[in-house]
Amino acid sequence: MSPSNPVINFGAGPAKLPREVLEEVKESLVDYEGTGISVMEMSHRSADYTKINNDTQSALKEILNIPDNYKILFLQGGGTGMFAAVAMNLIGRTGKADYVVTGSWSKKAAQEAEKYGKSTWNRDPEASYLYYCDNETVDGVEFNYIPDSQGVPLVSDMSSNFLSRKFDVSKFGVIIAGAQKNIGPAGITVVIVREDLLDYAMPITPTVFDFKVNAGQNSVNNTPPTFVVHVIQRVFAWIKRQGGLATMEQNALQKSTLLYQEIDNSDGFYQCPVEAGCRSRMNVPFKCKTPELDEQFLKDAKALNMIQLKGHRLVGGIRASIYNAVTINETITLVKFMKEFRHKHSSLNAQSQIYLS
Ligand SMILES: Cc1ncc(COP(=O)(O)O)c(C=O)c1O
Repeated sequence: MSPSNPVINFGAGPAKLPREVLEEVKESLVDYEGTGISVMEMSHRSADYTKINNDTQSALKEILNIPDNYKILFLQGGGTGMFAAVAMNLIGRTGKADYVVTGSWSKKAAQEAEKYGKSTWNRDPEASYLYYCDNETVDGVEFNYIPDSQGVPLVSDMSSNFLSRKFDVSKFGVIIAGAQKNIGPAGITVVIVREDLLDYAMPITPTVFDFKVNAGQNSVNNTPPTFVVHVIQRVFAWIKRQGGLATMEQNALQKSTLLYQEIDNSDGFYQCPVEAGCRSRMNVPFKCKTPELDEQFLKDAKALNMIQLKGHRLVGGIRASIYNAVTINETITLVKFMKEFRHKHSSLNAQSQIYLS
């Protein structure tokens, strides 16, 4: 490997987009399909944008097999905005909600919900909804099953593992997913909401966050990030061309297995703090034996053009995010580097041990 290697982006978000999609977007940047203007310059109420908006929703409906009694919304405010929006739109049903806290993002969501109602850690049959985060991006913890909410509407933050596997949408009341990992550029959060849950917004709910208003206005109640939706449409088309969610799932399993095997077979040189049963297929956090080695790892990886591997500032260490657009070959390149780095530093360590004894 040499510094002239192509850049491999292991960022946690905003994250790598498929190269093909970037090329397509570049192609249509200044003249979208013969309109003579860019999507960036187009009215959100024009026929051309309406088609982009509707086609993007139809593609998602097809990819995820979303039943007819669900609405797809493209909202602003990010995942963090949706922490508030979920509570304001739903908690009014009974005034209470249950939060399963498995990491930093679900903790933040629970703290936000406290502003609008009572959020509890113990299951309450009268909860307006049961909330959980399907994949904790910072901590590398992922659910490998859909929790049984026993009749209470289930709400899930799937920001960092959305469209990485098939799942049954009909088990959910609301799904939220920020775009900047598996879907597209930052600026949109996809919300999938069951129609019968559209009637509980608190009167104080800002109009931009009101699910019912946005569902009624096809997500153009106010100006949406139109260009972001255009890119998302291209990402959905790319997923379909790859073979849909079955391919995404197979690749995610293969890539994550390669990384976890190297960690687990490293004789403790690399350590992953997450138990095997709930390890994320998207974000793989690990540490070397010392913080100095972590620093060296990041520096050497960067010199080889493997970038954005630094662990989240809350937990430190290293984190390899291997979203849909990161290829199997790119993951193999990282694993090869991990092996080389380990051998180099294990033997250095062994030599210094001999010297010391
Ligand atoms: C799982 C999850 N939820 C929510 C968020 C917050 O998203 P945003 O930064 O768009 O508010 C993130 C951000 O990385 C995330 O990973």
